[in-house]
Amino acid sequence: MTIRKLGVMGAGTMGSGIAQSAAQSGYAVIMVDTNDAAVERALDGAAKTWDRGVEKGRLTETDAEAAKTNLSASASMDDLHDADLVIEAVFEDFDVKAALFRALGKVVAADAILATNTSSFRVDDLARHVAEPERFLGMHYFVPANINKLVEVVRGQNTAEATFATALDFARSTAKEPLACRDSYGFVVNRFFCPCVNEGVRLVDEGHAPERVDAVSRQVFGSPLGVLTVMNLSKARIAMNACTTLGGLGAFYEPCTGLIRMGEADAAWEFGEEPAADNAADAAIADRLRGATFLAALELLDEEVAAPDAIDLGAFHGLRWETTPCSAMDDLGQDGTIRLVEAVAALYGRDMPRSTARAGSLLVG
Ligand SMILES: NC(=O)c1ccc[n+]([C@@H]2O[C@H](COP(=O)([O-])OP(=O)(O)OC[C@H]3O[C@@H](n4cnc5c(N)ncnc54)[C@H](O)[C@@H]3O)[C@@H](O)[C@H]2O)c1
Repeated sequence: MTIRKLGVMGAGTMGSGIAQSAAQSGYAVIMVDTNDAAVERALDGAAKTWDRGVEKGRLTETDAEAAKTNLSASASMDDLHDADLVIEAVFEDFDVKAALFRALGKVVAADAILATNTSSFRVDDLARHVAEPERFLGMHYFVPANINKLVEVVRGQNTAEATFATALDFARSTAKEPLACRDSYGFVVNRFFCPCVNEGVRLVDEGHAPERVDAVSRQVFGSPLGVLTVMNLSKARIAMNACTTLGGLGAFYEPCTGLIRMGEADAAWEFGEEPAADNAADAAIADRLRGATFLAALELLDEEVAAPDAIDLGAFHGLRWETTPCSAMDDLGQDGTIRLVEAVAALYGRDMPRSTARAGSLLVG
C-alpha cells in the first residue's frame, strides 16, 4: 500500500515530532488534538524549527515552505477519513487509547493502517479494540521524534505482512531507522535500558556514589549521558513506571527501592563533585551495569523479539551508545559474557538465557 496522507492523533511532545518528520519528508500530514493550545504550539514549533533550519543552511526556503504547506491540524477525528496511515500519540492511558481506536475504525477507509506510539502497553492488548487488527501495529518513536532516527516497528500477533512492510517503508521514507521487532513489554530498547537504569540506582542504594555510577555508565556504553542523567531528563516517575510495567517479568525488572523513592517524589539526581575513580569499585559498577543490560538483551533474543543487529541499532540510535550490547558481548566472548550475566542472574534468581551460548558470534551467527 502507498502512504500519501498521514494522520497523527495527539499534537503533544511525540505527535508534533512525528508529524514534523513526515511533513518535511513530503507527506501531507494532519494532526488531530482535542486541545487547541497543543495544536497551536505544535504548528508554531514546527514552523520555527523549519525557519531555523533555513537560517542554518540545513533546509532550503522552498523545502521549508513545502513542509509548512504539508502540515495541517484539526480538532476533529473526522478529518482523518482519507488518511492512509494514522499514528496515535495521545496520553499514555489504556482506556483513552482503546476508545480512540474504536472511534477511528468508524472514520478511516477500509484499507487504512493504524499504529500506536505507546511506550508501555502491548500492541496485542490494544489490537482488541481495533476493528481489523491485521492493519494495526506499533510505531514507537524516540524523543525528539523529529530528530531521533529510531522507530521501533512492532509487529502484533495479527499484524499482516503487508501492514508491517508498509510501516517499515514509511519509516525509511521519513529518514528514520526502523527497528523491526515483535510485540513484547518494553519492546526492545526499554527492555534492556530500564534494567540498566534500575541496576544503576540499586548500586547507589548499595552505597556507590551516583556521580561514579553515572560516569562509569558513560564509559561502559560509550554514551554521552550517564544512566542517572538520562533518568533526570526523562523524569524519575517515568523510569519507575517503565520498570513497574516490566516488573511482571520478575524481580530483576521490578523497580528497586531507590527508584521507587525517587519516582514517587519525582525527584532528580543532584550531582556533586565527582569522586576520584576507584578501580575496584568502578569495575564492580561496570560489571553489574553490563551484566544487567546483557541479561535483558539475551532474553530478547531467547524470546525472538528482535535480532542481534536490531538490538544494537536500538542502542546506537535510541540511546546514542557507541558500545552496543550484542557487539560488546561478541567482543567479550562466551566466557566473559557468562561471567557477567551469571553474576546478575544469581542476584535475582533468574535463569541463564539460552542465547548466552551464542555470545562471541551473535552478530555473525
Ligand atoms: N514523551 C516521550 O518521551 C515518549 C517517547 C515515546 C513514546 N511516548 C508515548 O507517546 C504518547 C504521547 O506522549 P507525549 O509525551 O507526546 O504526551 P503529551 O502529553 O505531550 O501529548 C499528548 C497529546 O494528546 C492529546 N490528546 C489526549 N487525548 C486525546 C484524544 N482523545 N484525541 C486527540 N488528542 C488527545 C492531548 O491534548 C496532548 O496534546 C504516549 O503514549 C507516550 O507513552 C512518549
